[in-house]
Amino acid sequence: MKGYDRNQYTNIRYPFPYDPPYVPQDNPCGAYRHHFQWHKDPKAGCTFLNFEGVDSCFYVWLNGRYVGYSQISHHTSEFDVTQFLVEGDNLLAVLVLKWCDASYLEDQDKFRMSGIFRDVYLLNRPAAGIRDYHITTEISPDYKTAVLGINLSFAANHPVPVTATLLHADQKGGEYIDAKAESAGGPELRLTVKNPVLWNAEQPFLYTLIMETSNEVINERVGFRTVCIRDNQVLLNGTAITFNGVNRHESDPVNGAVMDYKRTLSDLMIIKENNFNSVRASHYPAVPYFYQLCDSIGLYVIDEADNESHGTEELYFYEDDYSQRMRLSHERIADNPDFIEPTLDRIRSMVIRNRNRPCILVWSMGNECGYGCTFERALEWTKETDPDRLTTYESAFYMADDREYDCSNIDIVGRMYPSFDDIRKYLDNDPAAPLLLVEYCHAMGNGPGDFEDYHELIEEYPALCGGFVWEFCDHAVCEGQAAEDGAVYLYGGDSDELQHDGNFCLDGLVYPDRRPHTNLFEYKNVYRPLRSSYDTASGTLTISNHMDFTDPQDIISASYALILDGTRIAEGTLELPSIKPRTSVSLELPLTIPSKGRCFLWITYVLKKAQGALPAGHELGFDEIRIPVADPVYAKALLIRNNASQAAGSHLSYQDTEQYKDTLIVIKGKGFSYSFDKRTGMPVSMIFEGEELLDKPVEFNFWRAPVDNDMFVVDKWKKQRLDRTLTRAYEISCQSDTDSVEIHVRQSAGAMSVQPVVRMDSVWTINSRGAVTLNVNAAKDPQIRTLPRIGIRMFLKKWLKVVSYYGMGPMESYVDKHQAARHDSFTATLGELHEPYIRPQENGSHYDCDYVSVRGRGVRLNVISADDNTFSFNAARFTQEELEGKAHEHELTACGSTVLCIDHRMSGLGSASCGPELQKAYRIDEDSYSFAFMIVPENLNKQV
Ligand code: GAL
Ligand code: MG
Repeated sequence: MKGYDRNQYTNIRYPFPYDPPYVPQDNPCGAYRHHFQWHKDPKAGCTFLNFEGVDSCFYVWLNGRYVGYSQISHHTSEFDVTQFLVEGDNLLAVLVLKWCDASYLEDQDKFRMSGIFRDVYLLNRPAAGIRDYHITTEISPDYKTAVLGINLSFAANHPVPVTATLLHADQKGGEYIDAKAESAGGPELRLTVKNPVLWNAEQPFLYTLIMETSNEVINERVGFRTVCIRDNQVLLNGTAITFNGVNRHESDPVNGAVMDYKRTLSDLMIIKENNFNSVRASHYPAVPYFYQLCDSIGLYVIDEADNESHGTEELYFYEDDYSQRMRLSHERIADNPDFIEPTLDRIRSMVIRNRNRPCILVWSMGNECGYGCTFERALEWTKETDPDRLTTYESAFYMADDREYDCSNIDIVGRMYPSFDDIRKYLDNDPAAPLLLVEYCHAMGNGPGDFEDYHELIEEYPALCGGFVWEFCDHAVCEGQAAEDGAVYLYGGDSDELQHDGNFCLDGLVYPDRRPHTNLFEYKNVYRPLRSSYDTASGTLTISNHMDFTDPQDIISASYALILDGTRIAEGTLELPSIKPRTSVSLELPLTIPSKGRCFLWITYVLKKAQGALPAGHELGFDEIRIPVADPVYAKALLIRNNASQAAGSHLSYQDTEQYKDTLIVIKGKGFSYSFDKRTGMPVSMIFEGEELLDKPVEFNFWRAPVDNDMFVVDKWKKQRLDRTLTRAYEISCQSDTDSVEIHVRQSAGAMSVQPVVRMDSVWTINSRGAVTLNVNAAKDPQIRTLPRIGIRMFLKKWLKVVSYYGMGPMESYVDKHQAARHDSFTATLGELHEPYIRPQENGSHYDCDYVSVRGRGVRLNVISADDNTFSFNAARFTQEELEGKAHEHELTACGSTVLCIDHRMSGLGSASCGPELQKAYRIDEDSYSFAFMIVPENLNKQV
């Protein structure tokens, strides 16, 4: 990040030849020299030099004398430097190497950065005193008494007297002593607390523990909680919990792997505010204050050892049998006894540093190493050392079938990206342990489209104890600001790397600078703590509480609004009754339901009191409930349709005679003139009130700029040439009466060298007011299984640039990604409708629309549905070809038109970039389609 060496992003493959313990001879290094002042503190007999994170290994000298060496990048290395320090000026020298033998165990999917990336400090401690302590909490079965245990070890094994005091915060912000214990030097202290306030993520109550020896005072924060498994459920303080989690790497677009306190705090607040209750420290222990913040903010943590040897899977194996390949790759490291000690070292370094943090409920042995003797041993050590927590290790799933494995120390079975079927298969067949989706819903690019579906599955199966979205943030390197707007972000391949994994690092819920992606909003609302349903017949609202510990009655306020065609017709507040966790309650909510229009009931949940880190007034989420109405027609669309179909009383003429030599059919009415190309059957010009509205002929459109989640279907789509279709007409004929002209077209859309995608019978009806209705019946070639979209594309004059719509917004919305959007009337500019994915792709569509218009220069072009269907639309400055063709957002060039796509259907997004293929319900895979749109230009300066 500071201009030395070069950036490299690689996922699985080792960025050097696989030849442990050797690493490349050309090994970049950093040599650091630092002068500092030091004066002896008479109370501190010892001084330790601490490094909280250095990648990948380092040598330390103080005042010219060699102090020592350490490795494990995300690990605290502590050196006793008492004998090396001098009064006054001291010179610290550190040599950091980019690669070392430990790099074989640090093959995480990330930018491979080297350097000192966490705090370095001197710690003064008394020569005689506490060396380490391990805090445990026990709670009596009736939850009336808790015992805080402190297991002590002493410097030089020399016991000293210790006094421990436990303070309890009172309501008024003061503190009182809850328990006190003294030891004359024994290894254990026990403090008993009556009526303990327990810790959980919803109510993260912490006590303050003060441990005193003659020369030192140590402050700790303590949370009383127990965690165990019963009946395949994870119980916290005896109550089943679900992990609503996110995976978080430490990554910053300016500071690389440096995670300062401010960034850590704001990341965790973003996570908390968006209804997550858990974080997986993927794939290495986080910076120490991360855990203290999780304790106080209230987030469960899966802590993961800094260990990944994924690259062993990419070695060359002649063998192609899956199980044998697993055996061969695991024998390199995971099942190689030479690696038992390094594996244990990494686990110990995590457990011993972090075991006093109540937020950590689960230890993960590492990520994607495969399985074998090293992990069998590490798991055994972990359960022996810390029996009070649970263990998981996803990679134990990948086994060779000709070897017996010991998995007895794994409490929670971890899986990543399993399909819905795989999850059901495991859970329906008498599972031996709870299942956790340690990674799911790959949040790469535009997507994922399956938060709600996985959520429903998690609700359905108690033994599915939750999941962690992959991942919190996009990783990229900021290269300053582009000329126009926004930062320039570099990803894999942008730094002349020999080997890289492209944009697979852009898979977060937030952009690199933490601006939210639309999927963050989506997640938040899917995981709202309350959900409601409404029965119109009885006027009953049923509210279910999805929290594990909290009754919303005193802390959440709810309000309702009945929305008709985007307008509030009734609203009010709701007095929430007591709703016990994981139960629901019904209440009366009599509403007068209109007989006509698009009607929705919105229930909004807001914190009425501050809850831990979340302030009063914080919105927790909302429900949008569709209210069945006798005649659900959107009023404005109806008005446009009615106005447009009133006889204009003026003459309508068309030219299309045998003699007419042109290829055009020209229809003229009062104030407009439209031309259709007889070879394609499509409008090529629309002159309205003297202004041409079109820059190019209207076309049928089956393509979208591929989203990252299309990556495994895009080759097929390209072979079918869905990106290159052209429309041709076989037959075209006109009919007219006094008030309208109908153009009937038999046509197809297809591309060079392949059969047509669809054959269509289309009718364009133009009436005397200049309204155009398109009716299409399309038959898809059954060999073409799925379409990215089906609709029309218009290149409109760029001054038609203010967009209004009624449909799902304000953020982009898709058939499988609209849980945060609502049906409402919105107005936006083209810039606001654009979602700036770093690698450009389809974006900014709006789902379930009844109406869209673009306006400028006194003209408004309205589009409404002309049948019972709603539609999706995009309005953009960039073409799908431009989005597809450019590698970075900052390279995009506007095409000079307003591109308006009206889609009968837009394919869902899914999360197939790493997850299962798009679910059938969200595919466009039927063999026939019929749809109708009405395009109505309007002169805003003329009264209709
Ligand atoms: C998982 C892995 C993550 C990340 C993700 C893809 O296999 O554990 O580290 O690589 O896939 O983005
Ligand atoms: Mg990996």
